[in-house]
Amino acid sequence: MKIGISNDHAAVELKQAIIKHLEAKGHEVVNYGTDSTESCDYPIAGKRIGEAVRDKEVDCGISICGTGIGVSLAANKVKGVRAACVSEPVSAMLSKNHNNANVICFGARIVGEELAKAIVDAWLDTPFDGGERHLRRVKMIMDIEK
Ligand code: RB5
Repeated sequence: MKIGISNDHAAVELKQAIIKHLEAKGHEVVNYGTDSTESCDYPIAGKRIGEAVRDKEVDCGISICGTGIGVSLAANKVKGVRAACVSEPVSAMLSKNHNNANVICFGARIVGEELAKAIVDAWLDTPFDGGERHLRRVKMIMDIEK
């Protein structure tokens, strides 16, 4: 898959570990984040990953800040984006299976490297359920944008 990743200054090291992890699994990763630990504004990272997913530059996106909350709030303002902020793999898995999240977010100050890799794997390895009730509910979310 072609996966976009963005981050703020709080998540440079974790972002690099996730990129390495994804590339080792054969994915192509586009780095939209900062590689500097100089303080920067997380809305830029959230918006950038949202736009990359919206514009189909990538198949899906990952965004990391200190908590994952700021980037997910910003990404969710971009039309077509369903960004889920999670801290463990079960929520990551269900965010794809039930909600068809196209962006996953987590916090570098909340989860460690191994947990972050497990979150990303659970999300990528899970398909959207696609059943009538899940499709209907996801459509209801997207209809809010209209
Ligand atoms: C930056 O200090 C921090 O606010 C940011 O990384 C993130 O946690 C915001 O939600």
